[in-house]
Amino acid sequence: MKTKGIILAGGAGTRLDPLTRIACKQLLPIYDKPMIYYPLATLMLGGIREVLIISTPKDLPMFEALLGNGKNLGIRLEYRVQPEPKGIAQAFLVGESFVGNDGATLILGDNLFYGKLDFFRSALAQESGACVFGYHVRDPERFGVVEFDAQHRVLSIEEKPTQPKSSYAVPGLYVYDNTVVDRVKAQQPSERGELEITDLNNSYLKDGQLQVRLLGRGIAWLDTGTPASMLEAGNYIATVERQQSLKIACLEEVAFNRGFIDESQLEAAIAGHRNPDYRDYLQTVLNEKRHGRV
Ligand code: G1P
Repeated sequence: MKTKGIILAGGAGTRLDPLTRIACKQLLPIYDKPMIYYPLATLMLGGIREVLIISTPKDLPMFEALLGNGKNLGIRLEYRVQPEPKGIAQAFLVGESFVGNDGATLILGDNLFYGKLDFFRSALAQESGACVFGYHVRDPERFGVVEFDAQHRVLSIEEKPTQPKSSYAVPGLYVYDNTVVDRVKAQQPSERGELEITDLNNSYLKDGQLQVRLLGRGIAWLDTGTPASMLEAGNYIATVERQQSLKIACLEEVAFNRGFIDESQLEAAIAGHRNPDYRDYLQTVLNEKRHGRV
């Protein structure tokens, strides 16, 4: 289905205070890049070229200063304010005119995926309905949790249950068809006054329109919500990048490899970079392409 992308980068970042006093969580570093690079790269690797970034009135201008209109990456970026946080599903109300009649894929700005993204691409190839994922975790009670019956059919998704019915958490990456905005409009806020993403998923489930794809071992889904988990995520990225001498979520490289920008645009990006190491890296990407190396 044709889908636009939304990155929700709001939230108070309370568990990271005082780190989040000046810049919000999604602008903080995960090793060598701001956190939001990773979810943006995920959307781009899925082939999504129109992306809306939603954040607080205070933080939105900083995202805009960082990423601009996306032209240098061959994509289109738009920005909208979430006036006050009223739940993840509110993103579709804030983004209604951006989404238009297309489907919408939402990724939370602090969700970091690494590995072969075929699971995501096949979800995007779905004709209609919704697709979310299930990821085996140690602490499911911190997330939306999938409940299965004996035949592994999905019975429900529960938001942060005290007694989780499985070890499968729902990561913050959701693919929805073009019924999503109407569904959110019909939703009632939860007890904590939020438009819950889990209620939206259950609305698709009730109509037999929800796919839940379980992610296998080859995918890393990393948490970045606390100082310790942010450090672990940064160390993970550093380990893989240094071992392979390949970058993860290097936006210019992703744009080039996906054919969103051509050689001359990559050259312009290289010339515009202030960091010599980053510049050298992009130059290598370009040279290897020119010399036909894989
Ligand atoms: C949110 C969702 C939860 C999901 C999680 C993924 O929780 O409510 O269902 O599993 O994101 O990161 P939050 O992290 O906002 O508490």
